Amino acid sequence: MAQPTPHSGKVALVTGAARGNGLAIAQALARGGATVYLADLDSPLPEIPYPLSHRRTLEDAVETLRAAHPRVYPLICDVRHEDQVRQAIGEIERAQGHLDILVNNAGVLALNPIAEVSEAQWDVQMDVIAKGAFHCCRLALPGMNARGWGRVINIASVAGHRAIGLGVAYTAAKHALIGLTRALAMEVAQQNVTVNAVCPGTVPTPLIEGTAQALHLTAQQALERFSARHLTGRPVSPEDVAAAVVWLASEEAARVTGSSLFVDDGWHVQ
Ligand SMILES: NC(=O)c1ccc[n+]([C@@H]2O[C@H](COP(=O)([O-])OP(=O)(O)OC[C@H]3O[C@@H](n4cnc5c(N)ncnc54)[C@H](O)[C@@H]3O)[C@@H](O)[C@H]2O)c1
Repeated sequence: MAQPTPHSGKVALVTGAARGNGLAIAQALARGGATVYLADLDSPLPEIPYPLSHRRTLEDAVETLRAAHPRVYPLICDVRHEDQVRQAIGEIERAQGHLDILVNNAGVLALNPIAEVSEAQWDVQMDVIAKGAFHCCRLALPGMNARGWGRVINIASVAGHRAIGLGVAYTAAKHALIGLTRALAMEVAQQNVTVNAVCPGTVPTPLIEGTAQALHLTAQQALERFSARHLTGRPVSPEDVAAAVVWLASEEAARVTGSSLFVDDGWHVQ
């Protein structure tokens, strides 16, 4: 049976897309008919206690997706740097003529008691999560506003609305991302552009595995500990997160803006 194509003719940029939630989101948007650019890093972030992606991770991810979806493209882009974001969005707009869907997914996590959080560790979490989304929005929105259609979807977290233990910088950065989502929704609503957040609970990705190692836990122990607040106790999957993004990016969600869609198995209601 033919797949539904709610995003046919649309062009999407997903940041932090070489693996984890970002890769699942890129795949789901491509399955929906979008042309998808997957952006990720090619340089390590020494302040983060687990390895991030690099050029090879990204190229392998794109190669795998291409088997089923020919219109997927890699972009090396560190979202902390305005010049790199400008270059990436410029490349998309030159090649495709438009960018319609922006998914700010890039994120990093370092859990520490505040006395052990270095200034550099605070900065890198704020810079990737909050400033990175700011750069991408600032440079993508003029085109969306001019064409009178756009979708911005920020991958925040339950930590955008609640505190997580030992996560002062991450919680602050995700709260900032929710603030950005709400303020920007007000600014662009008249242009038929929506801005929403997806707030996952615990998802088994390299971010959780890496954080487990830093806490001297196995990946399974960390997954169980971090999912304990879920109403079923089970983690959610990257595909669950991607399904929320696919809907928010669709025509059906045109009247939903400034919202947080929790994909957290009910963690936030407690
Ligand atoms: N895994 C979870 O339990 C969970 C829960 C809630 C929210 N999230 C959020 O989901 C998003 C994706 O995380 P994930 O769990 O898939 O982790 P992940 O580590 O597997 O993926 C994150 C990706 O972002 C990339 N990245 C990091 N800094 C970047 C930068 N400056 N520029 C471009 N790319 C950068 C990494 O290289 C990596 O490929 C993050 O925003 C994270 O905070 C994850």
